[in-house]
Formats: sequence, structure tokens, C-alpha cells
Amino acid sequence: MASSVPSKILVIGATGVIGKYITTAILAAKPRLSSLSHISILTSPGTASNPAKQALLSSWKSQGLTVITGDINSADDVRKAYKDVDTVVSCLGRTGLLEQIELLRLAEESDSVQWFFPSEYGTDIEYDETSKDEKPHQNKLKVRKFIRENVKKVKITYVVTGPYADMFLEYKPGAEAAGGYDWKKKKAVLIGEGDDRIGFTTMPDVGKFVAAALASPQASQGRILRVQSFVRTQSDILAEFEKQTASKFEIKYTSKAELRETEKRLWDEGNPLATGFTLRRIWSDGKTLYEKTDNERLGVKPDDLEPLSAVVERAVMGKGY
Ligand SMILES: NC(=O)c1ccc[n+]([C@@H]2O[C@H](COP(=O)([O-])OP(=O)(O)OC[C@H]3O[C@@H](n4cnc5c(N)ncnc54)[C@H](OP(=O)(O)O)[C@@H]3O)[C@@H](O)[C@H]2O)c1
Repeated sequence: MASSVPSKILVIGATGVIGKYITTAILAAKPRLSSLSHISILTSPGTASNPAKQALLSSWKSQGLTVITGDINSADDVRKAYKDVDTVVSCLGRTGLLEQIELLRLAEESDSVQWFFPSEYGTDIEYDETSKDEKPHQNKLKVRKFIRENVKKVKITYVVTGPYADMFLEYKPGAEAAGGYDWKKKKAVLIGEGDDRIGFTTMPDVGKFVAAALASPQASQGRILRVQSFVRTQSDILAEFEKQTASKFEIKYTSKAELRETEKRLWDEGNPLATGFTLRRIWSDGKTLYEKTDNERLGVKPDDLEPLSAVVERAVMGKGY
């Protein structure tokens, strides 16, 4: 069985922020994935007809991808999309995470689905004993609990990437104190002293890791894969910006105590910006660091991955993600 999958892959949430990179990387890896015969995506009618998404969808279709339009909340639509598919890669956004429980139930029920990647691609939600209490982790933890208790037939692979380097660079409007870099105004806000080591994955590399996991079912099925492009500090990122822009930045620091206070206040107020503060606290507290990642298990070598300089260059050039 292991050598025959993935044969037909269905991506859900393919045109989303990270789904775009994952789908593009799977298409790019097609020639190297000898078992792979077909890639399809299940997308909502709104996205399928969205003018802003047409260039991407057309480019994928020209590479042989099939676009299936439907509603992930309709069991009939999902069953149709699952027909003959052996591998499902879910890239659903945060608000759609719990919808995966029904998608997994339908996968268990289907005759064809053998392998499922739940939407993770982020912070390690089971890093240590404190992880279970972190508010942003709760829905992903519920999905993992459902899987542990109910999914028997379908093999699962979780791809844990830590923060996306590309997104980490940016200030979130209204949440500047959580840290970030404004390379136009040459300003930066760093957490603590700016010297905490953080494991990052760039967004194109998230796609590469998922494609590598698909290419090695024996190494990746039934596993939580912890992968990353590089480990750097916020000061390293600042130095890279200063080098590439040949300028000195004005720096502000948010102490860890201030970060925690603001985090608590925002959660108490029900402010959605709270999530970003919690995640940055977790990342600054070293909870992206491992003795050894699973990069090697997947056959991904340092040269296959992007360096920090590539991400900073994209930012300075104004190329979004
Ligand atoms: N590590 C990091 O720094 C980081 C950053 C951001 C996200 N993430 C993780 O990456 C994963 C994907 O997040 P994303 O930001 O890429 O997702 P997103 O862009 O918000 O959404 C992806 C797609 O999910 C589909 N979807 C359908 N129903 C949905 C619903 N009820 N709620 C939300 N989405 C729904 C939509 O597909 P259609 O368009 O086809 O309808 C949408 O395009 C999540 O697990 C998230 O936690 C990690």
C-alpha cells in the first residue's frame, strides 16, 4: 500500500494563505512523485468565481489540476470530491478547523481515502505540558483528540512548521507591540532583548515539506513532522534588514512582562489580536526549538531550503505572500 500512495490527491483550502504554497509545491513535485496520477481541489463557489483567484486557478488547471466546486459542510459534496481520492491535504483556515472532524469521519467512511493531512502548518500544539492550555491551540487539539479516538483506517500526517518567517516580519496593524519590522520607515519592535532563538519556516518551504512528506509515505504516515527552514533571533532578522537596506533601524523593545500583560488584556476584551500576542510569547519562549527536526527524515537538506536573506529580500522588494 505504502508504495501506491499518493495516487490521487485532493487539497481542501487550496487557494488560502498557505494552501496556495502547498498546492503549488505539490504540482511542482508531480514529476518526482512517481505514484501520483491526479491532483484536485475542493473549493467554494465564491472562490471558484472570484476574479482575484482566476489567474492562480487557470495556471493550476493548465498543469492538469481539477477544480471541484462545493461546500465542505455538505456531506454529499465532500463524498463526491473524495471519489477515488486516496490522499487528502487539508489547508483550512483557523475558523474552519473544526469542520475537519466531519471531513475525517467521511474519510474513514470512504472506500478510497487512506491518508489525511489535517490543517496544522504552524506552532507545535503539543510542545510541552503547557501547550494544552494555550487558547489558540484549542481547535487543533480537538481535531487531534478526535483523530486519536476515532480514526482507525486513515493514516494521519501532521506537518508542524513553527511561524512563517514571511509573516513574522510584518507588524500586524494595532499589534505593533507584539513585534515586527517596518522596513519602509526603518523601524522595528523586538520582544525581550531580541535574542531568543526561534525556528521558522518560509511559506514556500512549507509547501516543499508537505510535498516531501507526500513523497515518503513510509517516513511520514502516522507522524507529527516537526520541520523548519532555519533558526534565527529577531536581532538576526534586524541585522539582515539593516544590511539589505543599508540603513540603521530605530528599535523599540517590548518586555516579556508587557507582552504577557497585553496578551491577557486583549483576551479579556475578546480582541482577536490576542492570538498574535499569545503565539509570539510561545515562540519567544523557545517553544519552536528541537534537538533535531524531521527535515532529514523527509530527505530535505539545508540547500533545499530558503535562507533568511531570501525572505527579507522578498519583503524589501515589496513582494507579498
Ligand atoms: N505558522 C504560521 O505562521 C501560520 C500563519 C497562518 C496560518 N497558519 C495555519 O495554516 C493553516 C491554514 O490557514 P490559512 O491562513 O492559510 O487559511 P485561510 O487562508 O484563512 O483559509 C484557507 C481556505 O480554507 C477554506 N475554508 C472553507 N471553509 C472555511 C471556514 N469555515 N473557515 C476558514 N476557511 C475555510 C477556504 O477555501 P475556499 O476558498 O476554497 O472556500 C479558504 O480559502 C491553519 O491551520 C493555520 O493555523 C499558520
